[in-house]
Amino acid sequence: MERLQKIIANSGYCSRRKAEELITRGEVLVNGKVVTSLGTKASYSDQITVSGHNLKLENKEYILLYKPRGVVTTTSDEKGRKTVIDLVDTTNRLYPVGRLDYDTSGLLLLTNDGELANLLIHPRNNVDKVYVAKVEGIVKVELIKKMCSGVVIDGKKTARAKAKIKKIDKKKNFSLIELTIHEGKNHQVKKMFEAIGYKVIKLKREKFGPLNLNGLKSGEYRHLTIKEVKTLYSLFK
Ligand code: URA
Repeated sequence: MERLQKIIANSGYCSRRKAEELITRGEVLVNGKVVTSLGTKASYSDQITVSGHNLKLENKEYILLYKPRGVVTTTSDEKGRKTVIDLVDTTNRLYPVGRLDYDTSGLLLLTNDGELANLLIHPRNNVDKVYVAKVEGIVKVELIKKMCSGVVIDGKKTARAKAKIKKIDKKKNFSLIELTIHEGKNHQVKKMFEAIGYKVIKLKREKFGPLNLNGLKSGEYRHLTIKEVKTLYSLFK
């Protein structure tokens, strides 16, 4: 059971604040009965009607996309660039869970399940994200350790992170580092490396919680199985 305004917002119909307004105006019905109290709880199996529209609460879609570089993580772009939503064939209004930069590739979830999306991106919930960064130059182990114990970006210290040096190419002058973080600040990985004096020249997200990119090529996607969705929810029990 959850507060009615949250269920309405999670359905993607409108914001939570707007839902509260509609409830107090008497525009919301639960199983055919008008509800005007903001404390009312309901479940996702109830029939909720908002301003005459029956919400389809069970019609959830979960897509795991291997985002290519050169695509924006938004639902529409004012500059007319290709968005992650353009890459999938769906009739639902899906939203990206978190964000990958235009020039970052890798695992991105798209869903209309606002409840799960919020759980997955909330910093309190510590969902691990694994990135592989190609950085210019040959990294120094002490600096990588320093980065993992926390560096200040945008005035705040980052949480502990884990790193593995996967490759050092002295000839071509680059290093490949696998970095596991559970926060999701803007441009976090690039800024963490910048804080220790390295420039990220390529970035890919390989894992998001228990999910990985196995079997997918850049630009491809698949639907999550019911079991995978349940596993994601079980992370927060
Ligand atoms: N960190 C970044 O710097 N960029 C991304 O796209 C994701 C994490």
